[in-house]
Amino acid sequence: MLWSSALETGIKLIDEQHKQLFDKADELLEANGDDKIKKILDFLASYVAKHFSDEQKLHLSVNYPKAPTHRGYHDEYIKTFKTFKEGYEKEGPTLANKIAANKIIVGWLRDHIMVHDKEFTRYYREHTPQK
Ligand SMILES: [Fe+2]
Repeated sequence: MLWSSALETGIKLIDEQHKQLFDKADELLEANGDDKIKKILDFLASYVAKHFSDEQKLHLSVNYPKAPTHRGYHDEYIKTFKTFKEGYEKEGPTLANKIAANKIIVGWLRDHIMVHDKEFTRYYREHTPQK
């Protein structure tokens, strides 16, 4: 399990999507067959895009001042992921690609969540009425 409760933001939708991303990264690291790998990478590409778009909608819903900067990190990541995906599909689960998967998916997500998503969710909580 690559996800840990330290990564929790307290926003259910975001936490569930983050967990799903870590689960898929885990599956990718275990996968060896080309078809299986392609399926997981395709899933990740579209799920990442959906997740970022959901997060950005939340940013806008509370007029988050750092929304454009945060969006910039997402856009940059989509490019990085695309290059990584192409390499993985071409070369397969080599050690170098597995290390890249660990860094680009797991490492990036962890750092991004701990700093930028948590910064946003603090803002979100301060600007939405709490139950
Ligand atoms: Fe984000």
